[in-house]
Amino acid sequence: MSDLTINKISAGVLCGALLIMGGIKTADILLPHQDLAENAYPIEVPEVAASASSAPAAPQKAEPILAMLASADIAKGEKLAKKCTACHGFDAGGAAKVGPNLYDLINAPQGRDGGYSYSAALAGLGGEWSYGQLNGFLHKPKAWLSGTKMNFAGLKKPQDRANLIAWMRTLSASPAALPTAEEIAAEENS
Ligand code: HEC
Repeated sequence: MSDLTINKISAGVLCGALLIMGGIKTADILLPHQDLAENAYPIEVPEVAASASSAPAAPQKAEPILAMLASADIAKGEKLAKKCTACHGFDAGGAAKVGPNLYDLINAPQGRDGGYSYSAALAGLGGEWSYGQLNGFLHKPKAWLSGTKMNFAGLKKPQDRANLIAWMRTLSASPAALPTAEEIAAEENS
């Protein structure tokens, strides 16, 4: 091979290399490389651990109301009872409707109406409708008593529950005593 041929080949190789490098550079200018702002395929990481540790559990329990009963608005309570009368009677000796009669209910046995067919859940309570028990039940019936057949969303506002319960207290020949200062102080969310 003559020197001249070797020179030609070298020049060819060099030219080729330059062309490739130039090509890469041109491509880089035309299609600039970009860092992605976020993963093209975001990975969903559930934030269970974070929320469980930082936020307290959503308040499922009814806020206390015993302290509100003495000064509750009984007239407003009577109006609120319109939410109940589709299913309940409040008159003395009245018959059960969709739900049992609720006359003279404060401190009465739970599931007391012998002529009414309660759910197993309510029949199994076996306590009395104290102010605190009523507060919890009326706040969210289905959450407070799993299995109850009372289809009612509940009364969210503590003042509404206080007004209604205060009115229900008046439906009696001898209304139950209002809560004592000790009972008010000892009240917990129900
Ligand atoms: C859609 C119908 C419906 C509405 C509205 C309703 N209830 Fe009831 N309620 C029932 C049924 C049915 C039961 C029986 C529940 C069971 O056996 O689980 C019941 C049971 C009760 C009990 C238990 C009584 C007992 O004898 O132990 C109370 C207290 C009560 N309801 C209060 C109320 C009040 C107060 C309201 C209005 C704010 C209301 N309910 C609205 C259907 C209803």
